Amino acid sequence: MLVLKNKQEVTDFIQSLKYKGLTIGFVPTMGALHSGHLSLIKKSIEDNQYTICSIFVNPTQFNNLMDLEKYPRTEDSDIEKLNAVGCDAVYLPKIEDIYPKGTEIDPIDLKGLNSVMEGASRPGHFEGVATVVKRLFLQTQPTNAYFGEKDFQQLQVIKQMVKDLNLPINIIGIPIKREENGLAMSSRNIRLSQDYINKSTILYKSLIQAKELVKCHNNPKEITQIIKKLFNNSDLKLEYFNIADEESLLTPEEFLQGTHYRAFIAAYAGDVRLIDNLRIL
Ligand code: PAJ
Repeated sequence: MLVLKNKQEVTDFIQSLKYKGLTIGFVPTMGALHSGHLSLIKKSIEDNQYTICSIFVNPTQFNNLMDLEKYPRTEDSDIEKLNAVGCDAVYLPKIEDIYPKGTEIDPIDLKGLNSVMEGASRPGHFEGVATVVKRLFLQTQPTNAYFGEKDFQQLQVIKQMVKDLNLPINIIGIPIKREENGLAMSSRNIRLSQDYINKSTILYKSLIQAKELVKCHNNPKEITQIIKKLFNNSDLKLEYFNIADEESLLTPEEFLQGTHYRAFIAAYAGDVRLIDNLRIL
């Protein structure tokens, strides 16, 4: 596997792939890779002639300095994992390759998708995500780019950005990979104690329960009230539970036929922030 260490190396390399007319699949990550990330890489390898993964812990999307500092960094084992699944190249940009003029944000109209749920809880988060992904897209010029439904709101934000900037890139969403107990795989799970790993299954259980409740409730707010009560006797601190239209990410007064809805959750297990979501209708 090729290791591209800076913008110049990636630019030269992409030019040679474009010259040969090869399709490029791109998977942006922040590293600490697990089977969830690798499922995106595997799909890209299936779909494209060439697959590039980037690993870059993007400072502009962290609104909490401690979260940024504690973010796991496991570059050597990440490279081994990418090699093992047959990824063609990994791009490891330095901060100046992405932010040559300091950590400024690009103006991108995210049409309000950035102001609910994760956007409301983490001000500036999606502006940072959109900026880094846009810059990585311009450097890697992919045919197809892969994003996990684990971060469903991020997936919608990226689709909106690509539309807004008219970029010739297909955005492909990949289903959530879970542990056997239902916990969604996440780089942050490394920081959970065994006790919290067991207790964190409440996130997925509450999403499943919401899917059951939809069968007999037509009011999303009622379902939300029932689910919130589950957390009263839990060691996890619920940040939000929300049911939203998959496209607009807005909460409806009642469910409409022919529209898909998802339940979204964010909760703290100690100081580790976890998110999850599930299509419920
Ligand atoms: P990161 O959290 O490293 O995730 C990289 C990609 O892997 C994202 O598209 C994410 O949704 C996907 N992913 C993570 N866990 C997954 C799981 N359990 N199942 C399926 N897919 C999963 O998301 C980011 O990085 C950053 O915001 C980034 C897009 C790289 C911009 O900095």
